[in-house]
Formats: sequence, structure tokens, C-alpha cells
Amino acid sequence: MLQEYTIRQFEREDIESVVEINRTCLPENYPDQFFIGLYHHAPKAFIVAECSEGICGYIMCRIERGISSFGRAPVKKGHIVSIAVTHEHRHHGVGSALVQAAMKGMREYGASEFFLEVRKTNEEAITIYEKLAYEIKRVLKGYYRDGEDAYLMVLESPPSEEEDATER
Ligand SMILES: CC(C)(COP(=O)(O)OP(=O)(O)OC[C@H]1O[C@@H](n2cnc3c(N)ncnc32)[C@H](O)[C@@H]1OP(=O)(O)O)[C@@H](O)C(=O)NCCC(=O)NCCS
Repeated sequence: MLQEYTIRQFEREDIESVVEINRTCLPENYPDQFFIGLYHHAPKAFIVAECSEGICGYIMCRIERGISSFGRAPVKKGHIVSIAVTHEHRHHGVGSALVQAAMKGMREYGASEFFLEVRKTNEEAITIYEKLAYEIKRVLKGYYRDGEDAYLMVLESPPSEEEDATER
């Protein structure tokens, strides 16, 4: 039973735990250098959840420039590349807290919208994203190596006036 957890930025020393969680929880696995690369790219958007036993979840993201999913203008988009929470710590809000912290970090890099790919059958993750106001934009046919389709989910979230004022 999860009592308490802390949400904080990833640190180099967390790499082993994060890689282990990724391998246990997801079929999409990456070499250590991929994780470290994303950490250098957007440290404020690489977040871990820490509970009494150690790291129990992570989220890592990339900032990409591209045409807005909501219009025609070029924008900075926050891409959620990978998120996972250890089995025994699920359903306590850790996953949602990770997404929210990562979005805050991505906004600090200027992202005004967010997107992610999720397996069509991954109801649990889709439910969380929908609760956070993400919408299914389209189906990406055969997106995964095993041939499964993905949903592309998107969320428009321009900076608040408060954030705007801080940036100036
Ligand atoms: C997706 C994942 C990160 C969610 O982590 P989590 O810590 O359990 O998430 P939360 O506790 O914040 O939210 C769980 C929510 O999912 C929904 N949910 C939980 N179980 C569900 C189920 N069996 N079916 C559908 N929705 C479900 C609920 O809305 C729940 O919210 P609630 O607890 O307020 O009712 C976690 O399940 C995971 O690591 N999965 C494996 C890796 C993965 O699929 N990553 C996403 C790839 S895109």
C-alpha cells in the first residue's frame, strides 16, 4: 500500500531504477543513453516518483517543434515519450501526478500543447490521459513493432497569464 511519494526531477543516480521500471512495465525498451539523452534535452520534464522503497515511477519527454495539432501555426509541442509506475504502486495517483509535473516542466520550455502515443488497448493509460483532458486525435496504424495501432492523443494548453508574465 502506497503511503506517501515525492515527485521530483530525475537525477543521474536514478538511471538504474528507471531502466528497470521501463523493462518491467513496457514492451518499448531503450538503451541507457536514450534516457540520459532525454534528461539532457529536457531535465525539467524528466520526472520520477519516489516512495519509501525507492523510485516507483518515471515520465520522460521531448520538446519538438512542429505544426500545431489545433491550427496551422508552428509551435513547440511537449511529447510524452514514456511513462510507467511499478505494479504495486498503481492506482494511487502517481501516474497522473507524473503527467502533471512533466507538463509543468514542458511549459517552462515553451510548449503550448502536448501529445503522446498510446496502444489502442491500453485502457488504463487512455483513461488517465482523458481525465487530464487529452483527446484522441487520430489512429496511427501499425505504430508499434508488434503491429498494434496507437492513438495519437493531444492536449492544447497555452501558458496561463501568470506563466506568461513570469517568462517576460
Ligand atoms: C498508466 C500508468 C502509468 C498509470 O499509473 P497509475 O499510478 O496507476 O495512475 P493513477 O493512479 O494516476 O490513475 C489511475 C487511473 O486510471 C484509471 N484506471 C485505473 N484502473 C483502470 C482500469 N483497469 N481500466 C481503466 N481505467 C483504469 C482510473 O481512472 C484511475 O483513476 P482513479 O484512481 O482516480 O480512479 C500505469 O498503469 C503503468 O505504468 N502502466 C504500464 C505502462 C504504460 O502503459 N504506460 C503508458 C504508455 S502510453
